[in-house]
This record gives sequence, C-alpha cells and structure tokens, in this order.
Amino acid sequence: MGNEFVCCSFLLLLFVSLSPGNAAASHTEDDSVVVLQLPEQKDGHSSPHMGMGMSFGMVEDDLMNPAAKVFATIKDIEVGKTMPIYFPYIHDPTTFQFLPKHKTHQIPLSSEQLPELLRLFSFSPDSHQALAMEQTLKICEMEAPKGEVQGCVTSLESLVDFAQDIFGPDSQVGIVRSSLTSKSTPLLQNYTVVESKEISTGKLIACHNEPYPYAVYYCHFQLGSVNKVFMVSLRGDNGEKVDSAFLCHMDTSTWSAGHIGFRLLGLKPGESEICHFFPAYDMVVVP
Ligand SMILES: *[C@@H]1O[C@H](CO)[C@@H](O)[C@H](O)[C@H]1NC(C)=O
Repeated sequence: MGNEFVCCSFLLLLFVSLSPGNAAASHTEDDSVVVLQLPEQKDGHSSPHMGMGMSFGMVEDDLMNPAAKVFATIKDIEVGKTMPIYFPYIHDPTTFQFLPKHKTHQIPLSSEQLPELLRLFSFSPDSHQALAMEQTLKICEMEAPKGEVQGCVTSLESLVDFAQDIFGPDSQVGIVRSSLTSKSTPLLQNYTVVESKEISTGKLIACHNEPYPYAVYYCHFQLGSVNKVFMVSLRGDNGEKVDSAFLCHMDTSTWSAGHIGFRLLGLKPGESEICHFFPAYDMVVVP
C-alpha cells in the first residue's frame, strides 16, 4: 500500500498567477452560466472547521461527531505523533474550483434575488438546493463581528482582491490547501505525523467553501489575531499520505469555554492555542 496513493497526494501551495482561464472550469463554453451542480453534502455533518464563531453553537452531541476530530495543538504535530483525524472524501473536486469571473460576476449574490436565482438554476423553491443557496447567501450577507473582515468570493480574482485589501495592494497571495484523500481511505482513522512545516505567522484569511451551484467561498480575517499556518504531512493507518493545512489560533483567551475545540482537547480559554486540520475543500490564504 502507499505507493499508488503518492501520485495523487499533492501539496497545493500555489502562488496565484492570474492568467485568464486559470481557474479550471469544466462547463459550457457558452457565456451564460450553466453550472448546475451543487457541491456534495459534506457528509451530512455541520462543518466544525469553521474554527471561530460558527462553531460556538455546537451542542454536546457534536463531541461524538467523527467530523469534529480535526482539532489539535502544536505539540500534537511533532514528527512521530499519532492521532485520529477526520478528512472528508471529495467526490468531485471540480465543484470546489472557481469558475472564470466572467461567468460568476454577472450573477447577483443576493438573498433578495433568490427567486430569480432559483429560476436561473432551475431549482424549485422547496428543494434542498434552494435551502442550501438561501443559507449560503445568508452567510455571505452576515454583518462582520467586531474586529473581523469577511465576505464571499466567487472567483480567483475576487479572492485576490479580498486578500490584497487586507495584506496590501502589492502583496503576493498564496493559497494553502490540504491534499485530497482516496475513496478507500476511512473518513476517520489514525494518522502519524511525518513532517511539519510552518508556512506563515501573522495575517491570514480562512476561506470556507459554501454549498452553491458554483464555487463560493466565505472568507474571514480577524484583525489583530495571531495565527500560524503549518503544512503537516501525515501517513494514515491505511498507508494514505495526506498533506494537510493546519491552522492555529494562538490567542484563545476571548473564546467561549464551550467551544468544541476546548471540549475535545480538554482545555480552557487562553490555556493553549487551538489548531485544526483543514478539509481539502477549504483554504487558507496567506501573504
Ligand atoms: C487510534 O489508535 C488508538 C491507539 O492505538 C486506538 O485506541 C484507536 O481506536 C484508534 N482510532 C482509530 C479511529 O482507528
């Protein structure tokens, strides 16, 4: 085992170049947008990866949710350490790739226009797709909590604009993503750390893929927060090699004691950093 997987395991630390058509799209050449796939349900679990605000509401049951097994601290990623980690399987990675901006920028991303959008994508108003779109639009329209900058991006160009507003207009923008896992890999299994590399300290933006008929990412940035990003190479019990983005929030003193990360790790606010492994459909954006 092992070798046949190595080919498919790739570390995506790419410095974005903005050649036209860079964001691959396997859709019609027609300029009108006809992209009807809704990204697969993320295993039916609410995403615990939303490290911050999103997960404050998690209830006790979530501790038993295998998808919550993504939290750890920096000492857990020392070479040789083993821990159970949940990585979702992604059936169709193309649904997480941005479409060219000329396809998405002409479509309003607005709750007010939901009826028109449902007609455009041919979803009936009571379908689960309609509900998913409504929820995503709500997330995109949320008011940013104090000290946060947030927004949704629908193209590589808008991601770079969002990032350069924060990092500075001349900064290069790097995207860190976890590699994909094979279908045969158990969603939750033990992984042993093979290598850990710190990639960045300081400013970073976390971007979460939201269900929508085309790739929409909710990106957020916290002013004044101290974060570290690592790339951690892991070997699973089944031989699978995964390179995972690992994001650490260094100051947790203002977090709620009920945060699932604390409860899973048995820690209290301010006692330790809280880090989490990133699923391959999300990304960390760094200068
Ligand atoms: C991981 O390893 C520990 C210790 O060997 C074991 O108790 C646990 O069941 C394993 N977890 C999984 C998900 O395989």
